[in-house]
Amino acid sequence: MLTKLLQRPLWVCGVAVLTLTANSSAQLTTYDLQERLATESHAGKLHGHAKDSAMNYRRYCVGCHGELGDGNGENAQWLDPKPRDFQLGIFKCRSTPTGTLPTDQDLYDTIGRGLDRSNMPVWNALSAQDKIDLVAWVKHFSPRWEREKAGTPILIPPEPEVTPERVKAGQEVFGRVQCWKCHGVQGMANGPSASTLTDDLNRPILAYNFTDGSRPKCGNTDQDIYRIFMTGLDGTPMPSFSDNIKPEEAWDLVFYLRTLQPMNGFNTKERQIAKQLGLKPVRPTQ
Ligand code: HEC
Ligand code: HEC
Repeated sequence: MLTKLLQRPLWVCGVAVLTLTANSSAQLTTYDLQERLATESHAGKLHGHAKDSAMNYRRYCVGCHGELGDGNGENAQWLDPKPRDFQLGIFKCRSTPTGTLPTDQDLYDTIGRGLDRSNMPVWNALSAQDKIDLVAWVKHFSPRWEREKAGTPILIPPEPEVTPERVKAGQEVFGRVQCWKCHGVQGMANGPSASTLTDDLNRPILAYNFTDGSRPKCGNTDQDIYRIFMTGLDGTPMPSFSDNIKPEEAWDLVFYLRTLQPMNGFNTKERQIAKQLGLKPVRPTQ
């Protein structure tokens, strides 16, 4: 394409170069950000304003996420995984379908929860108002919010009773949709694809190890686990399975995943059932 451009008369090249720079000016300037200071956020009764968050962002977040929200704060070089680039508008923890923007509530919850297995702290020292203002501030870095609305949260049917049948059915889903390819047949993050995984920015990434006692990044209630595999963690190889797993089956799978996790105490109902059933790890298939 470049050689073609070079064969054109000079003035055409000039225009082309101009457009190229305009497009690549996803490189945000402080001027663009000024324009977006009116960004707002809402969650329940809370109402946030980006303009009220500048000080808190500078004090608490800039060292990792950077002045322009690009994830290049001065501490970023030492961190793995890297701080999120907010300009991309891509988030792991969402109640909304894969590819869509998270709700303000999602971002609010993330800030309050922190991201386990990363340097993103739990911000429970901040007030509810501080957090909702920071949500608006996070949003103001990405032009996505000017063009798109947040996705519609997925519907989660009420949680059924845990039964041996459901735990067994959940194990079948785990085998059928091949969670084990990355997470391993025992959930130890050592499946056949595990060592080759990279995120969307081509950085190596580990699958989640269900057995090491760590908490999933996007929450550890049954509903959170349900949401994680039905919406996917955007920007990572962890896909959404909403096209392959029916809502009833999804609850079965949640119960099965609980049999792999020691963290809620060894004696959860799911683990007792697994023991009674003498459940063996799934057999890998093609
Ligand atoms: C010590 C470094 C550090 C500080 C300070 C920090 N973060 Fe983070 N943040 C991270 C890292 C690292 C990630 C990415 C973690 C991952 O991808 O697993 C992240 C991710 C995020 C995400 C993306 C969550 C998602 O669903 O993808 C949000 C939102 C966020 N941070 C908000 C904030 C806010 C607001 C502050 C200030 C109150 C803050 N962070 C301060 C390191 C930090
Ligand atoms: C192609 C590889 C791959 C497959 C297949 C896969 N996962 Fe994941 N999964 C990942 C990666 C990578 C992560 C870690 C993402 C991160 O740390 O940001 C992850 C994380 C998770 C988490 C923890 C999320 C969190 O918030 O920390 C859960 C729960 C999970 N996967 C469940 C499943 C289930 C259930 C299946 C099958 C229905 C599945 N995964 C299939 C790669 C995969």
